[in-house]
Amino acid sequence: MPSHIAIIMDGNGRWAQERGKPRLYGHRVGAEVAKTIVLAASDMGAKYLTLFAFSTENWKRPPAEIQGIFRVLEEFFLREVKLLEGYGIQVRIIGEKSGLPGSVQSVVERSEELTRSGRKMAVNIALNYGGKWDIIQSVRSIARDVQSGRVRPDDITEKMVSSRLSTSGQPDPDLLIRTGGERRISNFLLWQSAYSEMYVTPVLWPDFTPDHLKEAIREYRSRHRRFGGDGG
Ligand code: FPP
Repeated sequence: MPSHIAIIMDGNGRWAQERGKPRLYGHRVGAEVAKTIVLAASDMGAKYLTLFAFSTENWKRPPAEIQGIFRVLEEFFLREVKLLEGYGIQVRIIGEKSGLPGSVQSVVERSEELTRSGRKMAVNIALNYGGKWDIIQSVRSIARDVQSGRVRPDDITEKMVSSRLSTSGQPDPDLLIRTGGERRISNFLLWQSAYSEMYVTPVLWPDFTPDHLKEAIREYRSRHRRFGGDGG
């Protein structure tokens, strides 16, 4: 079983448009699917699940869609936090929280607080997240320590950079799933996915079911991870 699964939930807009509905309808259904997949991943024994909900590039979308996505996310946390708490699921927001609308910030921070003691699975929700942003904020924190003399440049290690990323303390994703068919990493977990197994499915996110997740895990299990070595 992969310990850490990361998912790029793509295809909400296309799914809605195929049905002659506004894109926001796709995001609403997408949020329901996110809940189902969080619970399914936890039941299947995953320990960490990272979901890409809003990227640093998503600000390029029309303001009405951005507002709609934030409303959907806010409502999701207000509605589901008790359920997540009950299942022992810990919520962590990864991304630049200070750039989010104030109401979203307070709702997500409350969700983090309420679920802090959850031990069954940790779910990272990537909000205003970019892989490049994550690396930059780690490097800045190290640079501050170099400037103050606490760290020498030659002491900077992979472990140090990792420990200051937003996913600090967590293992890197074993399996990275992208729905919606595009074969790109789209500035998701750039550092952390160095050796993640990638699984791309054409299934659009609102159509993604626990059975699709099982299929991705089954395929992952059949692969031979070498981490750059010879596999011996
Ligand atoms: C991707 O589809 C979806 C998004 C960028 C929006 C955010 C995701 C959700 C609202 C799902 C809910 C998540 C949680 C954690 C509750 P797209 O709009 O890029 O689709 P397209 O590729 O078809 O345009």
